[in-house]
Order: sequence, then structure tokens, then C-alpha cells
Amino acid sequence: MPNLLQGPILDWYAENARDLPWRRPEATPWGILVSEIMLQQTPVARVLPVWEEWMARWPAPADLAAEPPGEAVRHWGRLGYPRRALNLHACARAIMAEHDGRVPADHATLRSLPGIGEYTSAAVASFAFGGRHAVLDTNVRRVLGRAVRGEEYPPKATTAVERATAEALLPVAGAPVWGVAVMELGALVCTARSPRCADCPVASQCRWRLAGRPPHDGPARKGQTYAGTDRQCRGRLLAVLREAHGAVPKDALDVVWDDPVQRERALDGLVTDGLAEVLPDGTYRLPH
Ligand code: ADE
Repeated sequence: MPNLLQGPILDWYAENARDLPWRRPEATPWGILVSEIMLQQTPVARVLPVWEEWMARWPAPADLAAEPPGEAVRHWGRLGYPRRALNLHACARAIMAEHDGRVPADHATLRSLPGIGEYTSAAVASFAFGGRHAVLDTNVRRVLGRAVRGEEYPPKATTAVERATAEALLPVAGAPVWGVAVMELGALVCTARSPRCADCPVASQCRWRLAGRPPHDGPARKGQTYAGTDRQCRGRLLAVLREAHGAVPKDALDVVWDDPVQRERALDGLVTDGLAEVLPDGTYRLPH
């Protein structure tokens, strides 16, 4: 079956793509790898300034690998889920130790780097090296779920059926631009909560829209609450360590969160995850 989605989505992308620095021809594989990790759980607008700062500070894996891991955490800013910073640091060191300082080009080798999952290896192999891989991020999964299967939301975790659908739709040539075009359609038009079908280039073929946009019939999708969570508490504690240059006394951490039980649990979690270190004198700092 010819892929009838392809032409309209590629034409739409040519007109509507955002100019993002990691999509420009001068973006390096390292810049693309860093962007994909940052973008996984954080919106583009928040990623942009941090990505620019990282590229200026650490233009190549060698530059980041030469720093202690705590510097990656310090310059993660408020992107959230800061274990990603440690993963990128570990990745930079592995690229130095095992790949001569160059980001590997093939999917399987990328997949073997620390913290690099199926999505990131497909995205980097495709966007940085022109490989032909299905790049299944949440936006792509939602677009294909609606257009092809007629479902409002994709399943929680990627299924074999989704993968087979995405692979069947991959163009023989130009897979990278196809992947980013579908992703962009999901980010700008086929959004999770208020899809703008009037602006969609494939509205006339979309199974979900043709069926009258039936609501998702699975369990309610839980929104992410943040206020009062351990995650918020960890964020406050980590902000203290990031802003300090050197180790801080425990008191400096105690003042940022009232509930002592939650605070201790969050602090232990940071240490266990390698995001903070406790020294023999009971002070805390970013990992060295
Ligand atoms: N361009 C390439 N990859 C992207 C992503 N993950 N999010 C937004 N834009 C992108």
C-alpha cells in the first residue's frame, strides 16, 4: 500500500517546521544526542537555553568527559529528571573510552551506551547519521495511533504493532526528515489535549477524526502532579547543591523543605542515585 500520509506531512513540514538549532545542518552528532536526551521529558522552550549553554561549554564529548559528573548536574538547570545529566556524562566518558571521542553512527552501538534507550539510539542514528529507523517518541506514537489505528492515545509502552506500523510507513529515502516531520505534526497540530484537526494535512485520512474523534476508553491518563511530591523536594535540595560551590552543611538543605520524613527520603534518594555525595563530616555536595 502506498503511504498516503507521506506527501501531505512532508509538505506541511516544509512550510511549518520550527527552526531549532539541533535540526540545522551544522548541528553535530554530539549536539543532536544531547538535544534528544534533554527533549525526552522537557519542552523545547525550556531546553533551548540549556542546550545552547551546554554546546558552548562542552562542544564535544571530550569536553564533558573531562569534568566531574557534578558539573553536568550543576548545568542541567531546571530541566528536571537530572539523572539524565549523569547519563550524558557517562555517555561522554564511554564515547571517549570506547569510540575515540566520536558519537557512534549505528543503532546497536548507540544503544549500548549508558542511558541510551531504543528511542534515543533511533533518533541519533536517524537525525545525525541519516539511518533508516522508526523514531517512536510520544508525539509520533500519538499521530500514528490516531491516523492509522483510530485511537486517541497510544498505549503506555510501545507495542510491537506500533513498531511494525511505523516501520511500514518509513520512506525508502528520506527517513530522517519523515521522522522529524511526524514528530513536529504531533508537537504543533496533533497535540495530546487539543488537536487542531482543521490545520492537519492528513485530516481527510485520519481514522480517529473520520470516526468522530472517539475518546480514549482505557483507564484515565493521570496528569503529572508536582507540588508536594518527592520529585519537587529533590529539585529543591539539588538546587541548593548546584548553587553552592563546594560542600554545604546539612542545615542549608533542611531549610528548603519542612517535612523532615520526606526531606530525608528525598536526600537519601539523591545520594543513592549518584546525584549527591555525603562527606565524612556530614556535608553534602554534587558528585565528584
Ligand atoms: N527535533 C528533533 N528531535 C526532536 C525532539 N525530540 N523534539 C523536538 N524537536 C526535535
